[in-house]
This record gives sequence, structure tokens and C-alpha cells, in this order.
Amino acid sequence: MSDIITDIILKAAEKARHETSNEPEPKVVGPAEWPVNCTVGPGLEGAIACESKVGSVNGSKGWLIYRGYDIFDLCAHSNFEEVTYLLLHGELPSKKQFEEYNSRLVKYRHLNKSLRLLVGFPVENMSAMSALRLGTNMMRQEFTFLDADNDPAARGEAIASDDDSIAMETQPAGGKSATYEFGVRKKFKNSGRSRKKNEKRTDDGSSIDTCYHLISGVATITAAISRLHNGRIPFEPDDKLSHAGNLLYMMTGKKPDPVAERIMDVALILHAYHGMNASTFASMVVASTLSDFYFSVGAGIGALNGPLHGGANEEVIKMLREIGSPDNVEQWVAKTIAAKKKITGFGHRVYKAYDPRARILEPLAEYLAGEYPDVKNEFLTAKKLEDEVLDKMGRERKIFPNVDFYSGIVYSALGINSEMFTPIFAVSRVSGWAARVLEYQHNNRIFRPRALYTGDFNKQYIPPYMR
Ligand code: ACO
Repeated sequence: MSDIITDIILKAAEKARHETSNEPEPKVVGPAEWPVNCTVGPGLEGAIACESKVGSVNGSKGWLIYRGYDIFDLCAHSNFEEVTYLLLHGELPSKKQFEEYNSRLVKYRHLNKSLRLLVGFPVENMSAMSALRLGTNMMRQEFTFLDADNDPAARGEAIASDDDSIAMETQPAGGKSATYEFGVRKKFKNSGRSRKKNEKRTDDGSSIDTCYHLISGVATITAAISRLHNGRIPFEPDDKLSHAGNLLYMMTGKKPDPVAERIMDVALILHAYHGMNASTFASMVVASTLSDFYFSVGAGIGALNGPLHGGANEEVIKMLREIGSPDNVEQWVAKTIAAKKKITGFGHRVYKAYDPRARILEPLAEYLAGEYPDVKNEFLTAKKLEDEVLDKMGRERKIFPNVDFYSGIVYSALGINSEMFTPIFAVSRVSGWAARVLEYQHNNRIFRPRALYTGDFNKQYIPPYMR
């Protein structure tokens, strides 16, 4: 059944290779001799901040390479678990390595305490991305006990965040002003108070095991948020399902059919890594201070949330629904161009050819539109919009659909609400963040660019009563 999907991907690959065959082949660049010379624009555009072997994006040929492997090949023949192993370790796993890795993912998918803590927050009133950031903090708390280690005597008997409850009562101390105190906390040797003997934990929050924990757990948290937003309680993962299958299962409560599972798997592979984008950079900046990986992933989630980055997929579906039908596209595009507004889902800082991810997602959306009439109108509107934008400005100015243009249609067909599109991006991209943070750790140097000060000097301070 899922061969249909492989065929779709292989055809997309052929089309992509044909389209950019005239573009010059990229030069293979060796290790840099630091310091390097490069032309830097605002927002660090063009700046080279480090070396990396994790992946490569070639904007003119429309290539996306993970550890030397073409994205089309990985989507056609691999799976998300294998691809994340590849990103983290640099090589495809042997059968034994895959089994070991997968068994850790299966284990880490169960986040009972994190979910219990999360349910205690008003998740239903929070945006899904904000709840996701909170959820990764809960994961940190459940698995690392880092906060319990941070137990300085100077702070008295403060309650560590690893404790389950915080005492609230205050006792009159006889002074003029009330003294507010936390209740005395029971001391536990070596912290990790609920840790069982010999139980392995990702204690330092910056190990390969932390990466596994985050790759696996972010999916569980995302699915739980989706359930809570729908007024339902979270689902336990099914250890027999794949990562993609579990994501769909834990969100929808239904075991996905093999084609849906395969399409979700492809979507996750496509979003896993994309060079030094804003969220990857944000997570690397945080990790470069030797903050742990949970904080680093929190920074990545924050950056991904924005509409210029991961938040665009949700905006696209809103835009398609606002346009309403293919018949309205021409007029809508003319109006938008005249207003000099950007069209969400088009354009990319790096790609000046068709984004290979959109190249795969477009025919997958088409396939799903044929199967699920609910998304047919959105797909046809998107197709017409693509033609119109390419005609009116795209081809000439090299503004093509990006990864976010068709992904929302795919997710909608799979039964996912639009507010979950960006968290699903994070479910996948957490692997790219982890791979880059892990790699950078080997030769860590704190990120510290400069700003050009264009303000005043030598101003004389005037006290408030004289202003
Ligand atoms: N619609 C219309 N015009 C566009 C678009 C667009 N989507 N994207 C770029 N352009 C035009 C700009 O108006 C600009 O024209 P000008 O030179 O006449 O001023 C030119 O192309 C260059 O655009 P920049 O914004 O400078 O390109 P940049 O590399 O900074 O931006 C970005 C890339 C942010 C993705 C931009 O294309 C955009 O805002 N797209 C819409 C939002 C979007 O889809 N984001 C998702 C990106 S993919 C991802 O992050 C996962």
C-alpha cells in the first residue's frame, strides 16, 4: 500500500533533479581556516559561525542533504527513527543499533509524570506552542533532577521544583511585618529523591540520552496538548507503533492506516533538519552557554513559533480558507501584490529553486485530496494560488512555495487541527536541533556577535525633578 507513496516521492525526485540540472554543481568545501572572511548582512545573513557535518542546503539546486544522503532518497526508503539516528550519529544504524535506539525511543515515549504535571496547568487556555515549551520543562524535571541538585544552603529550605507540592501556609512570627516562608523541605542525599536505585536517568541534561528523550518525548507532549485542547485526556503510546504512527494515534485516538502513517513519517523526515535556520541557531546559542539541552530545545520552540518561521504552516491554511475557492485566487493575488504584502508559504532565505520539501508535500497533498474530500477545495485553491504567484512574480523573482505551503493540507487530511501544525514541526525539528547542539558541544565556543552602536555618547544625566 505504502508503495504508492514511494512512487510519488520518486517521481517528485525526478522532477526536481530535471528542473535544476542546469544549475552549476556545488563546490566541495573543506574545513575552514579560522577566522574566515564572509560578507555579513543584518540579522547575520551570510555569516559563517561554525562548521557542521550534519546537513547541507543548496538553495540554487534545491538540494537538501542529511549527513550526505539526499532527502528524496531518505523519504522514499528510510523512516523517521532511522533518519534521526543518522542525524545524531552521522551514520545509518546497523540492525542492532537501530533496535537499541528504537527501544530507548519506545521507553522515553512514556512520560507519565510529565503529563500529570502538564495536566495541572491551564493547557486548554494556552497556545499549543506555549504549552509545548512548558511540557519540555516538565520532561526536564521528570528525568534530570537538575533542579534538585541546585539546593544551596543560602536559600534556606526552599522547595525545589522537583518537589510535588509547594507548602503555602505562613505562621505569625511576632514581627511587625508578616514573614512568608516555604515549609521545611525534607532533605534527600544526592538529590534525585524519587530515583530508584540503579535507575538510569539523563542526569546532566546534555547527553546523547537527553537527545533521545527529547526526540521521543516531544511527540508525546504534542499529542497530549492536542488532546487537552479538545477536552480529552492524553493517550498512552502504543509500543508496537512507529514514531509517526504513535503521534497520529496519541492525537486522534485511532490507529492510523499504513498510508496515513507513512505520509506522517515522510512529513517528519522532511522537517527534521534544515541548516542554520532561526530555531536551530536559537537552540545552539542557548546550548553554547553550557545550559542544558532542555533549555536549548525551549529556545528552539520559541523561535519556531514565529510566523516567519515554523508558524507559517498554520497561517497558510488560514489564508487558503480565507481565499475560499480557486475562483477567488486571481483577484486575491492581485490585491495582495498591490498592497505589497508577502504571501505566506512562498519564498525562502536560502532556496532560489523549488523547495524540495514542497516538491514532495505537493503530490502527497494531491493524493490526500483525492482520498479525503474535506481538503479537496483547499488543495485546489493552493494549486491555483501556486500557479498564479509563479506567473505574477515567482518564476522571475525565484519565489517558490516553501515547506509550509502544502504541509497544512497534508496534516488537515490526517485529521490534525491547524493549531497543532507548528508543534508537529517541532516534533520533527527537535532532532535537527539535538544533532547540531550535540555536534557543537565537541568544540563549544559561546556565541557572541556584536552590534554596531549607533547611539549617543557623553550625555549628561538630568535628575527627574529637573526634566
Ligand atoms: N510573497 C511576496 N514577496 C516575497 C515573498 C512572499 N512570500 N517572500 C519574499 N518576497 C519578496 C520580498 O518582498 C522582497 O522583495 P523586494 O526585494 O522587492 O523587497 C524579496 O522577495 C526578498 O524577500 P526577503 O523578505 O528579503 O527575503 P528573506 O530571505 O529575508 O525572507 C522569508 C525569507 C522570511 C521566508 C520570506 O520569503 C517570507 O516572509 N515568506 C513568507 C513567510 C513564510 O512562508 N515563512 C516560512 C519560511 S520556511 C520556514 O521557515 C520553515
